[in-house]
Amino acid sequence: MKETVYKNLFTPLKVNGLRLKNRITMAPLYLGYAGPGGNVSPLILHYYKEMAQSGAAMIMVENAGITPVGMGSPRTLRCDHDRYTKGLETLAEAIRKEKALAGLQINHAGRFAYVPEPVAPSSVPAFGKTPRALTKKEITTLQKQFAKAALRVKQAGFDLVELHGGTGYLLAQFVSPRTNRRTDAYGGSLENRIRFPLEVLKRVKDAVGDFPVGYRFLADEWLPDGLKPSESVVLAQHLEKEGIAYISAMGGTYESFFLPEIVERGKKPGYMVSLAALVKKAVKLPVISAGRISTPSRAEKILKEQKADLIGLARMLWVDPQWPQKARKGDDRAIVKCSPKCDACLQLVMQGKPAFCPKWPKDRRAVYKDLFH
Ligand SMILES: Cc1cc2nc3c(=O)[nH]c(=O)nc-3n(C[C@H](O)[C@H](O)[C@H](O)COP(=O)(O)O)c2cc1C
Repeated sequence: MKETVYKNLFTPLKVNGLRLKNRITMAPLYLGYAGPGGNVSPLILHYYKEMAQSGAAMIMVENAGITPVGMGSPRTLRCDHDRYTKGLETLAEAIRKEKALAGLQINHAGRFAYVPEPVAPSSVPAFGKTPRALTKKEITTLQKQFAKAALRVKQAGFDLVELHGGTGYLLAQFVSPRTNRRTDAYGGSLENRIRFPLEVLKRVKDAVGDFPVGYRFLADEWLPDGLKPSESVVLAQHLEKEGIAYISAMGGTYESFFLPEIVERGKKPGYMVSLAALVKKAVKLPVISAGRISTPSRAEKILKEQKADLIGLARMLWVDPQWPQKARKGDDRAIVKCSPKCDACLQLVMQGKPAFCPKWPKDRRAVYKDLFH
């Protein structure tokens, strides 16, 4: 192996029995590329093959729905029935063929679901819609659906599964004092609010056995009445006790992402590193940090200062899939950077359109456009 200036970035790491060949992981990035109805499409296969060819150690595929009423969009990948397993198999294979570890994130969007009647821990309105509060029986059903979906991920040949506890989706909605107003065993005290994700994890682990389960983790909701790190780290410690493989820390939800102050924060390089560092202080588990880690020198510094164990690149890798190769050569300046002024990808997917990056060369854009149906 050729020498590199970024020694920490290219040091392998064992995570729950998996060997990551370096510290670069792809953080989940939904871009509206699945087929209508959430099937694995030629475009999504092409996208993840390209990401896996980048040289990143682990590719975490974007969120896939565990139940039809929990989908984030009509093009959200699905993992809620055995009929999707075959397609997911081709996706896992496409990634693993390129010598990257393949993970799939599973999710229920709760009050942010793209359905006429969303469900959530409590009836707290979101964007003009008031979700219906889940019954105790429905809570148990959902936990079983998470477990079945996780088993499908394993059966489809992925190396690991990730529970989506970020972005203010269902798992996070239970933890947040803002969106969980229940008065039963799932609401009120922090102990009660973290019950749902912990029970989901238990059922998932019972279903998949010896198979790594990671957690996308909402460390801070970035809202005055929202979840704060003082509470979220307690969940991190419980997740560790219950055998989670790693924690991938993030901040913000759809209700905070577009606030002017948060928009400004999101333009800064490494804007979520402090959250990862907070979590890392509370647990011994590997912690992933994402958020505009645009250069390998920044990534190296984060690792060296022990603010995180792994780097998560989402848009950063999508804009320039040669990021890891350029990093190995120490060629930071050659990396095509995602512009902090541009939020085209987010805007497009919010409008239900596929995202193509304005920074891409014409030929790459043409391939993606041709494959979109
Ligand atoms: C368009 C878009 C889609 C995303 N989709 C997901 C997703 O499916 N699951 C998830 O956990 N995070 C998702 N994220 C968050 C990213 O994983 C990541 O935390 C964030 O983009 C910051 O990293 P970056 O600056 O490298 O993009 C998404 C972000 C964007 C902009």
